[in-house]
Amino acid sequence: MHDAAFVNANLATMREGAPPIKDGIVAVTSNRISWVGPRGEWKDKARDEHDVRGGWITPGLIDCHTHLVYAGNRAHEFELRLKGATYEEIARAGGGILSTVRATRQATEDDLLLVSQKRLARWREEGATVIEVKSGYGLDRDTELRMLRAARRLSGLSVKTTFLGAHALPEEYKGRAEDYIDLVCDEVLPAAAKEKLVDAVDAFCERIAFTPEQTRRVFTKARALGLPVKLHADQLSDLGGGALAADHRALSADHLEHASEASISAMKKAGTVAVLLPGAFYFLREKQLPPIEALRRHGVPIALATDHNPGTSPLSSPLLVLNMACTLFRLTPEEALAGMTRNAARALGLQATHGTLEAGKQADLAVWDIGTPAELAYAVGANPCIKVSSSAFS
Ligand code: NIG
Ligand code: FE
Repeated sequence: MHDAAFVNANLATMREGAPPIKDGIVAVTSNRISWVGPRGEWKDKARDEHDVRGGWITPGLIDCHTHLVYAGNRAHEFELRLKGATYEEIARAGGGILSTVRATRQATEDDLLLVSQKRLARWREEGATVIEVKSGYGLDRDTELRMLRAARRLSGLSVKTTFLGAHALPEEYKGRAEDYIDLVCDEVLPAAAKEKLVDAVDAFCERIAFTPEQTRRVFTKARALGLPVKLHADQLSDLGGGALAADHRALSADHLEHASEASISAMKKAGTVAVLLPGAFYFLREKQLPPIEALRRHGVPIALATDHNPGTSPLSSPLLVLNMACTLFRLTPEEALAGMTRNAARALGLQATHGTLEAGKQADLAVWDIGTPAELAYAVGANPCIKVSSSAFS
């Protein structure tokens, strides 16, 4: 006897290569999927029955790259950029990430939780069940820990936390990047790991942030602590970030607009997922497209995420990411949906428990009032989500 069955449903299971199941059933028991298949093969019973009325069920959406926890906003920099200033110029003048650092250092853990929990409501409404949240607006021990504690306290979605202490060089370390990397490796990351606040470690490897060598130091420490790594790689320039991430068996390399073929081939060998972030591409009005064709050719799994953050992607809509990935990057609607389900799970190391509709996985489902799965990527600003079932609710 199953706890519940969703009946009269079409199923986009998102299992690699598996076609959709028309008139299917998904059963759940104790927060796990306990059966998936066509109605004709269903021989069991369930205590509760939910009639989906011919709608579609997909795995809950997974947003595998966000900077959801921060204080303040950067509307002023948006205006400066509209007048012609570039993101890099603003960053070099002490704005950008550092302006959000100033606001976040002033905020208490409860302040951060309150604003972030409010932001998160949108993800729930649009069928997301898992979100990754990075630190990186503290850049000192106490604020980094506060951000991560606030992220751990978020409710309504499953949260994976990523330590991003190497996001920018804080003002007080100006001209002393190596000393700051010492602080990150010797003090802040170990303290966060000790408090079990870290599921993965990320860094921003870029000419306005940290060098490949400094990134390597952070990754070496992460691996010594038994933590997987991810990387903000090749967003504004090609520093070989994709290959560096692959060298450390990274879960993912993210952004990748300027990634070289050599990086992509290294990522394929290492099993590193490419996370593309069309919100940042759009908001910065970037011209350089990520190397989609090369990623396809090498068979690197492509994930998508909002990159929600106050500077380059103040985007709170997983569904809009699906649309942007198709319109801006020319992904197919099916590739886009795989990018926020199966491949996003992999980018977080959750492929055994999340990302597809399969018996044994977590019962994270979204129910949609649509006629075909492509409608999820097609509509702009609509929200056809009618129900979310998530293991995070229990
Ligand atoms: O993913 N690239 C670095 N980090 C963020 C931007 C953060 C910010 O500007 O506040 C990103 O785009
Ligand atoms: Fe980011």
